[in-house]
Amino acid sequence: MAQRFILNGTSYHGAGAIQEIATEVKSRGFKKAFVCSDPDLVKFGVTAKVLKVLDDNGFPYELYSNIKPNPTIENVQTGVEAFKNAGTDYLIAIGGGSSMDTAKAIGIIINNPEFADVRSLEGVADTKKPAVPIIAVPTTAGTAAEVTINYVITDAEKNRKMVCVDPHDIPVVAVVDPDMMSSMPKGLTAATGMDALTHAIEGYITAGAWELSDMFHLKAIEIIAKSLRGAVDNTPEGREGMALGQYIAGMGFSNVGLGIVHSMAHPLGALYDTPHGVANAIILPTGMEYNAPCTGEKYRDIAKAMGVEGTEKMTQDEYRKAAIDAVKKLAADVGIPSDLKDIVKPEDISFLAQSAYDDACRPGNPRETSVEEITKLYESLI
Ligand SMILES: NC(=O)c1ccc[n+]([C@@H]2O[C@H](COP(=O)([O-])OP(=O)(O)OC[C@H]3O[C@@H](n4cnc5c(N)ncnc54)[C@H](O)[C@@H]3O)[C@@H](O)[C@H]2O)c1
Ligand SMILES: [Fe+2]
Repeated sequence: MAQRFILNGTSYHGAGAIQEIATEVKSRGFKKAFVCSDPDLVKFGVTAKVLKVLDDNGFPYELYSNIKPNPTIENVQTGVEAFKNAGTDYLIAIGGGSSMDTAKAIGIIINNPEFADVRSLEGVADTKKPAVPIIAVPTTAGTAAEVTINYVITDAEKNRKMVCVDPHDIPVVAVVDPDMMSSMPKGLTAATGMDALTHAIEGYITAGAWELSDMFHLKAIEIIAKSLRGAVDNTPEGREGMALGQYIAGMGFSNVGLGIVHSMAHPLGALYDTPHGVANAIILPTGMEYNAPCTGEKYRDIAKAMGVEGTEKMTQDEYRKAAIDAVKKLAADVGIPSDLKDIVKPEDISFLAQSAYDDACRPGNPRETSVEEITKLYESLI
């Protein structure tokens, strides 16, 4: 079977990269931007860094900021209406996964109005036209939505996060500038960074992984393991490393899928509004323990990429434990809680387990699973 691989046409990396937005807008002949960014980023002046580039170059734009973390169908639909009234011809997404995913859904629906209900976009949607062109500027180092073909929208009525997979949504330009991330507080840096590590590890062991995706995931694990502690301390090297590491992870997982750590994290976002990175970070070691029997020698590579010495001489049990311990140590060092006690209510577990089983990331898991087994995994974490 042929393997498909999709990446951005153009991406910029490094401090100051946002200046290149002007180059791209000019060369592509874009007229007026519909800027998607969330209210906190507007309030704290993060969005303004990019707006200044637009202002300095005399590029017109309309700002849309009705976007909440774990964005909803309503956030998308009011955005579609605002886009239609704004006379805009391209999107600039400035923010974390929430702003970028909302922009993707808006861009898809504008050019594929038959999906205006949003719900019909869940899973692999049969859209016919590429989204309105998107320039994506991440302000977190985690989701890599700027390079993935996915976006995640919450159905607030059904308490469900819908993972939408569609090559038509990939941003035409990604601008990965660590200076856009330096205002992140420690907790957000840690959580979003652990989301990126989860992408790299789940992407490396997922059912569809192959040499091309392995190359990205192993490098991403190595860079993230080296950089996350520094990023939490706001060092320029740490920020630079995380900006790149999370992007490289996105290049991989977007093309091969993830697994039950993400499937179990999504319902927590939907039901309790748990930040996506926090949910993943807490569940990751448990997911790794559960999946270990179905991962061959892969945990040896993961342990090595995490910086563990002497992995060549380790037995299977030793390198598997070493990989999981290295992940637990990194999570603890950056302040991630070790269980879900403060998040999950026991009476919700059957809903959570069914929802995780139905999640679009679950079929990618390397180990066959069931609602009963996912139930036990949640129970082990509270
Ligand atoms: N598209 C994908 O492939 C993909 C992958 C993983 C997750 N997701 C989705 O992305 C969403 C999570 O995105 P996220 O983790 O990037 O967080 P987010 O976009 O939800 O942002 C979280 C909070 O951090 C703030 N923030 C962001 N950048 C900041 C900065 N530089 N300085 C100060 N504050 C900042 C925001 O204002 C917001 O309040 C979830 O809905 C998740 O399901 C999407
Ligand atoms: Fe994620």
